[in-house]
Amino acid sequence: MSDRERARQTGPAGPPPGAGKSAPGPGSVAVESRGISEEVLREANEGLVLATVNAQAMTDAAEQAAAQLREANESLVIATVNAQTLAQAAEQAAAQISYTAHLEAQLLEAQKLETLGVLAGGVAHDFNNLLTAMLGNANLGTMAAEEGRSVAPYFAAIEKAAMRAASLTRQLLAYAGTGKPVMAEVDLGIVVKEVIQVFTASLPRNVTLSCDLAERLPLVHGDATQIFQVLMNLVTNAAEACQTDREGRINIRTREEYMDEAALGVGHWVLPLTPGRYATLDVRDTGEGMEPEVVKRAFEPFFTTKFTGRGLGLAAVMGIIRSHGGGLWVGSEPDCGSSFKIFMPAMADSALMPPPEALPQAWRGQGRILVVDDELAVGQVARSMAEHFGFSVLDARDGLEAVELFRLHHGELAMVLMDLIMPGMGGQEAFREMRKIDSTVPVVLSSGYNVSDTDLFVEGLAGLLKKPYRLAEFQEALQRALAMRLLPPG
Ligand SMILES: Nc1ncnc2c1ncn2[C@@H]1O[C@H](COP(=O)(O)OP(=O)(O)OP(=O)(O)O)[C@@H](O)[C@H]1O
Ligand SMILES: [Mg+2]
Repeated sequence: MSDRERARQTGPAGPPPGAGKSAPGPGSVAVESRGISEEVLREANEGLVLATVNAQAMTDAAEQAAAQLREANESLVIATVNAQTLAQAAEQAAAQISYTAHLEAQLLEAQKLETLGVLAGGVAHDFNNLLTAMLGNANLGTMAAEEGRSVAPYFAAIEKAAMRAASLTRQLLAYAGTGKPVMAEVDLGIVVKEVIQVFTASLPRNVTLSCDLAERLPLVHGDATQIFQVLMNLVTNAAEACQTDREGRINIRTREEYMDEAALGVGHWVLPLTPGRYATLDVRDTGEGMEPEVVKRAFEPFFTTKFTGRGLGLAAVMGIIRSHGGGLWVGSEPDCGSSFKIFMPAMADSALMPPPEALPQAWRGQGRILVVDDELAVGQVARSMAEHFGFSVLDARDGLEAVELFRLHHGELAMVLMDLIMPGMGGQEAFREMRKIDSTVPVVLSSGYNVSDTDLFVEGLAGLLKKPYRLAEFQEALQRALAMRLLPPG
């Protein structure tokens, strides 16, 4: 046992020091008491040393803790400052991102305007050529009629030029972004026929364009104008790929195809697909073909290998097909040719379409039609077409006149065909006025803009006829509107 422990055990609770010894005699007290106090003193001294050592240790510990606290505090201050800096940086980054997005949007808009400028210039030039063809053929046709010769070839040439002009305006409207996509059931076979009709007149002599249409093809859900534009761009590229000094062939093929995992693994997919049933469009040419690195970049906006190219054709194709949920496949061999294949999802319960009829079937109607158009030439064409189908015609030049005529004659009208945009009272307003007078007479609005009937928000409209139209589209609009009259209301 150490002295210190002993000192602790014999402290206040233990027997007093010297207990059990014989009582001291007189004179020994001082010695005894001096002896005790020495021991106590020593022990107290030791305790004091111990306490001093402990106190020192505690002071050191306290100082250490204080230092640690100070450090922690400093770290805390730094962390707070850092957190603030981080928050500021995050704010700055967010502002930068939204500014960049804003710049990108501006850039895109500027690019679109630039494209539009180029396109408008090109279209004006093409239009002049087409108008020259129309005017010339009209003059020649008149002369032929006077001399008793057949006028049919001149009319055919005028129709071709007009169809090409129509496709140009559609292209322009599609680029300008006027109107939203007009989604409907589309028969790809009809679109192919339209494209072939437009192109045949304008292809170089050494290039032939043919089609191989599936006997029966599923309908697809899409915007016919946009799909038309896709085909136009692909056929234009195919024609441009055919060299001028040798024969070139372009073929457009439609098919119904079931794609499984194995088929989807083959070749170069620009837009991949999921397995399923598709209506396909394949544009093949025997032109110059592409090197693999060109195939890889061909769909990038503004990528072109042509002197006068803008590099927008395939970018537009990709945008349109992607928005239709379709797939895109490319195969190409330098000096042999290329194949651009489009896969459009087949409509789930779509009937398979027989190949399109080239000409409208013989159809005759009867009754009176009110034709409204501020453009005299258009009104006259509509009148002649309506008369061709056996209708008699009442015509008006604006909305107000149309409503007045309607008020007087609604009981004897089979239907109304009215321009959408006219000075003064437009077609939409006139239509509403007519509905108040008599809502049983079907009204079809006609327009040169890319509008859909859902854009118009007019209830009870019997249809929309897009300008320009041919006899076939005119007949379809009339037939549809007249059929609506027979349906029970609601
Ligand atoms: N059928 C094809 N044969 C060979 N090369 C092609 C074919 N189609 C596209 N290309 C290549 O892809 C590039 C991009 O085509 P894209 O249609 O996007 O632009 P462009 O034809 O050059 O210009 P734009 O169509 O805007 O007038 C072309 O420049 C060409 O190199
Ligand atoms: Mg092109």
